[in-house]
Amino acid sequence: MEKKVAVLPGDGIGPEVTEAAVKVLEVIAKRFGHTFHFEHASIGGDAIDQHQNPLPDETIAICEASDAVLLGAVGGPKWDQNPQALRPEKGLLAIRKHFDLFANLRPVKAVPSLLHTSPLKEENAKEVDMLIVRELTGGLYFGEPSHHTDEGAVDTLLYTRAEIERIVEKSFEFAQLRKGKIASVDKANVLESSKLWRKIVDEKKVAYPDVEVEHMLVDSTSMKLITNPAAFDVILTENMFGDILSDEASVITGSLGVLPSASMRADSFGLYEPVHGSAPEIAGKGIANPAATILSAAMMLRYSFGMEAEAVAIEKAVDTVFEDGSFTADLADSAQQALTTQEWTEKVINEI
Ligand code: NAI
Ligand code: MG
Repeated sequence: MEKKVAVLPGDGIGPEVTEAAVKVLEVIAKRFGHTFHFEHASIGGDAIDQHQNPLPDETIAICEASDAVLLGAVGGPKWDQNPQALRPEKGLLAIRKHFDLFANLRPVKAVPSLLHTSPLKEENAKEVDMLIVRELTGGLYFGEPSHHTDEGAVDTLLYTRAEIERIVEKSFEFAQLRKGKIASVDKANVLESSKLWRKIVDEKKVAYPDVEVEHMLVDSTSMKLITNPAAFDVILTENMFGDILSDEASVITGSLGVLPSASMRADSFGLYEPVHGSAPEIAGKGIANPAATILSAAMMLRYSFGMEAEAVAIEKAVDTVFEDGSFTADLADSAQQALTTQEWTEKVINEI
């Protein structure tokens, strides 16, 4: 297959970790007989410096002409005092909005050799393998009216049927690629929007007889994520609940440097990026952990390109390198044992 990938390195360690992921994708292309065309463009602080705009039109055009986007991270102290319109994060919000990326995906999978970094007991964390599917463009963060005075405040939790239907359908498709189990999380004992959410999930599940659905309340879900996280396969939820639950789930595996993410719309186009930020204090030193970005590239292969075997090849290689005890500085027991970004990436490439 032939695919076009827009690469937006961004700021801080963004260029280092995206470069590593591109190298891995090039090796996948060679091994599996694909051609990937990479086109680089600026976003965030980098784009502000070059174009006085955190998301230049040229970048949008390059992404529009691509099948998927691979992003590093944005932000850093250099731009912290900038006015709102010239903040690096604006670029991220703007690209999600421009492409209507309503489905945010965060897989959380235990890495056996990193279990000691988990705040949970090893026996609770070791079987964890879940995918959180969060609605990203609706709900409480976008509903109007939304304002406050000193005497009172209002926010609006609004969901249209169409907004719920499209995220529910996506989550069924993802569940079919996994263990076929969805926990749909809401607060249907209190919220009207959750009652409609539940109704639509029940309507949609008829078309996916191979997927098992359980409705769960958000409060008890937050407990079960700690007491029995391995019980989850796909967690489907609305924007605010997903914001909170995905941060809760992200610490189960202990290490920020290994968590990938994707943001998708109804078709196969998607934006793939590590969960971590630009880590400015270690930028340019060649010591950043590229695992989260490399695993984000694997998600791109799976969800945007339908290349399951290729995605698994990357994930297996990363697992093997960890099992061998090869780590970058953030995870290594001592500085002497730490590999550089490049050395660690070479190990993954050799495995592939
Ligand atoms: P951060 O995720 O950049 O760093 C948190 C801690 O984890 C730091 O100690 C950092 O050195 C370490 N770390 C993160 N990723 C790592 C990696 N791949 N390898 C090794 N160590 C890693 O979050 P922080 O420090 O809160 O924010 C730094 C900047 O990043 C800020 O400007 C923030 O706005 C931005 N940011 C951007 C995000 C994005 O682009 N999606 C997300 C979060 C923060
Ligand atoms: Mg959050």
